[in-house]
Amino acid sequence: MTAKILDGNVLSAKLRESLRHRAAELAAQGCRPGLAVILVGENPASQVYVRNKIKACEAVGVHSEKYEFPADTPPQQVLDRIAALNADPAIHGILVQLPLPPQFDEDEVLEAVSAEKDVDGFHAENVGLLAQGNPRFISCTPYGVMEMLSAEGISLRGKEAVVVGRSNIVGKPMTLLLIGASATVTVCHSQTKDLAFHTRRADVLVAAVGKPKMITGDMIQPGAVVIDVGINRLPDGKLCGDVDFESAKEVASLITPVPGGVGPMTITMLLANTIESADRASAK
Ligand code: GUN
Repeated sequence: MTAKILDGNVLSAKLRESLRHRAAELAAQGCRPGLAVILVGENPASQVYVRNKIKACEAVGVHSEKYEFPADTPPQQVLDRIAALNADPAIHGILVQLPLPPQFDEDEVLEAVSAEKDVDGFHAENVGLLAQGNPRFISCTPYGVMEMLSAEGISLRGKEAVVVGRSNIVGKPMTLLLIGASATVTVCHSQTKDLAFHTRRADVLVAAVGKPKMITGDMIQPGAVVIDVGINRLPDGKLCGDVDFESAKEVASLITPVPGGVGPMTITMLLANTIESADRASAK
């Protein structure tokens, strides 16, 4: 079997077209959606992500503001900027690109963002609402994965879903969303004893560990849906996922590539959350 490849660029383009229309409607009503992005330090991957987020905003008509700080910035300066953005009616979404330099308490910074503008869904209040099955903002990457599954008409009810990775950004919110969709969910992580035993039981396998090509074809159930959230840079500069695409595609029924799979969907859902936030603000 050779898997169908789930193209995140194609689905993103479709979704962004309708987001562009919604952004234009809101702008016409005097509420142009606005996103502020904060980047601290010179992490090259973060710089690329932030550039892509700003470019995507421009393409759908979302106003964007970028605030860059050097790596040695005292945390209070960033907290002051967040406070100003919380109070700014032109800004509906605030995103602090992670990771932050070591002098920062990441939780403190994420909690400083108004929960009503937390389009990343990282604020404790928004994580709690998601855990209760009543989300305000869903973290962009897991949200994008759910949209991809839904666009393919994949029902999760009663399915065995296995999430590899337990990060706050992906693994945990992904798990909550899959439970909410009535899958039976197993979460694996670095201390899991026999990873392949679990992954081979998965009808839907989500890899979010940050280890290049660690999930190989022999670890996948024939016919499984394989979602690769990893974005790893190889020594030759090429990008690859957490899944060994070449061997996995011979076993899976559906697979997301890297690049061009989940990555573009993450940015699309950030735009969706920002526009949704503007929509809520305009209804107030
Ligand atoms: N760093 C890696 N992924 C993300 C993300 O989705 N949002 C933010 N803010 N930082 C990240």
